[in-house]
Amino acid sequence: MEAASLLLVQLKQLKQAIEPERLALPGGRAVLLRPITPLDAEAEQAFVSGLSLDSRHKRFHVGLRQLPPDLLRRFIDVDQHDHVALIAEDTGAARLVADARYVRSDDRPEEAEFAIAVADDWQSLGLGRSLMARLSSHARRAGLSALYGDVLTENRRMLVLMRGLGARTRPHALGPQIVRVTFDLGN
Ligand SMILES: CC(C)(COP(=O)(O)OP(=O)(O)OC[C@H]1O[C@@H](n2cnc3c(N)ncnc32)[C@H](O)[C@@H]1OP(=O)(O)O)[C@@H](O)C(=O)NCCC(=O)NCCS
Repeated sequence: MEAASLLLVQLKQLKQAIEPERLALPGGRAVLLRPITPLDAEAEQAFVSGLSLDSRHKRFHVGLRQLPPDLLRRFIDVDQHDHVALIAEDTGAARLVADARYVRSDDRPEEAEFAIAVADDWQSLGLGRSLMARLSSHARRAGLSALYGDVLTENRRMLVLMRGLGARTRPHALGPQIVRVTFDLGN
């Protein structure tokens, strides 16, 4: 790549970089929102295996107890362009309490699939809403046209949250147990 084009790419990536941010939550709690890094491997694994069975099922749609090594590697070693991952850290306890990410689709790179999970004891505090709002605004700034995700039909909380943020939902080809949720980003 020519030096000028490389500089343009780097400037674009810099504009899209996720700045660490402190977020105050009800009840005097607070988290640090920041991009995930490879140093978060142990904390990410602890976060996933610490989710309740119900939350893990809603997040992964399968009975997964912990992340297999290759998936863990993929989760922490992200380029923040094709794969963007934002986490919330309870800095007092050095513990991850939420994870929201999107991965660009291979055949339609202007679209990406999102997923999110919030630790059970940090749910219903507005964290899911804040993370999804940040993730979709990041995707919009990155020039994506849509963010989509597959949500279990039984996952009322997630569907209410998504519709509240302006997403549309439609039936899924896989059957009535799953709903396709899409944010049109206007690009
Ligand atoms: C779904 C999830 C991400 C939401 O995160 P959260 O931090 O609990 O969500 P928030 O506190 O931001 O609020 C969620 C919204 O749902 C609403 N809500 C809360 N409990 C609800 C319930 N039982 N039924 C319907 N709506 C509910 C709240 O009113 C809130 O709406 P508002 O912000 O307009 O007031 C979180 O519950 C989670 O991680 N669940 C398990 C994994 C999962 O389902 N992931 C999604 C699949 S990709």
